[in-house]
Amino acid sequence: MAFVYQNNTLYAEDCNLNDLAKKFGTPLYVYSKAQFLKNFHAIDDAFAEIEHQVCFAVKSNSNLAVLNLLAQNGSGFDIVSGGELARVLKAGGDASKIVFSGLGKTEQDIEVALNAGIACFNVESYRELTRINQVASRLNKIAPISLRVNPDVDAQTHPYISTGLKENKFGIAHDDALDTYRYAASLSNLEIIGIDCHIGSQLLDTQPFVDALIKLEQMIDELKAIGITLKHIDIGGGLGVQYKDEQPATPKQYADAMMPILQRLGLKVYLEPGRLISATAGVLLTQVDILKPTHHRNFAIVDAAMNDLIRPALYQSWMDVKAVNQSQANEVKTWDIVGAICETGDFLAKDRDLALQEKDLLAIMGAGAYSFVMSSNYNTRGRAAEVMVDGEQVHLVRERESLEQLWQYEHLLP
Ligand code: LLP
Repeated sequence: MAFVYQNNTLYAEDCNLNDLAKKFGTPLYVYSKAQFLKNFHAIDDAFAEIEHQVCFAVKSNSNLAVLNLLAQNGSGFDIVSGGELARVLKAGGDASKIVFSGLGKTEQDIEVALNAGIACFNVESYRELTRINQVASRLNKIAPISLRVNPDVDAQTHPYISTGLKENKFGIAHDDALDTYRYAASLSNLEIIGIDCHIGSQLLDTQPFVDALIKLEQMIDELKAIGITLKHIDIGGGLGVQYKDEQPATPKQYADAMMPILQRLGLKVYLEPGRLISATAGVLLTQVDILKPTHHRNFAIVDAAMNDLIRPALYQSWMDVKAVNQSQANEVKTWDIVGAICETGDFLAKDRDLALQEKDLLAIMGAGAYSFVMSSNYNTRGRAAEVMVDGEQVHLVRERESLEQLWQYEHLLP
């Protein structure tokens, strides 16, 4: 693991987090290059026995340095916007390893993606097929497409990050998929190459993935019967990580659970893991600003807030909080770790037993995924800086936003 204590001080690889806070200030996102690579190789290696392509879900962490690192190590990318496409290309990603997911691809997104030569559009609606066909025909191109089938399985995860149920807005209902494929086959500027699904995020068990795969296998057979043969199956992302005491399936267990079906299918396999690769590769470093013990609760007001990390506020996510310096000197009390934003929902953690003093440094663990990327400027707070450590070296991969930058696009009335 990249974030471990050495002599009671928390390190990121071989960098003392106290030194990083001094040099770059807080709040600060700290990423570990080694952990990113370890996580990427764990999932890539787990599928080594079949033809596959890992496409990192850019939405989980889209820093250019992260994308560049993964691209250099053979990763492809799962994107959901024209912006993410531009980022991946800017970071040196290979367009032919990009799959384009998402419900609302604009004509412009489609055009740019077709011109870049992406591997596949993961299509989520009937209407989207028409739109992609129109743009492709105007450009005199053939668009490679896959249909995202909603298999109606319960991912058993937080409702906001569950996507594979009938009532969710995602994908094409299992019952409509065959007709939609037929329609796709009738459009002259589309080439049907695959099928995909993504049933949710932070899944701990392999069973929902297997259930979804069984449904996709049936569908692939039905497609064959009507003369539509596919080249690939995209099994999405969603494998969870340990934030507290969850016991998520390992990448190997995940691969093993699905391997019999995948081997039987004999298709190229695409994967879209995000969190699995990025979550444990980052922490958010924050400093205790004011301690406010009250009769009811003890609040530690820190310099990070919900604008820096919204997961606890939005999904009631439990993220581990570690003291950078473990000292026995102070009394342990139960603290709520909160930001200074005027919202009751502005908390990073609740009920944590810590021995705190003002100016102490805390590390919010597992903050490499869906953390910086979901940050905002709420309360006119500049976004945190991001650094990536590599052994004893540290690289600034995103500068802290200055106040001037926050209003640079605003104008006074004439
Ligand atoms: N593929 C598609 C089509 C997706 O929608 C997602 C995530 C992924 C792949 C990657 O899923 P992962 O492997 O990271 O679980 N902000 C939430 C998570 C939202 C996930 C959205 N879709 C959070 O902080 O928990």
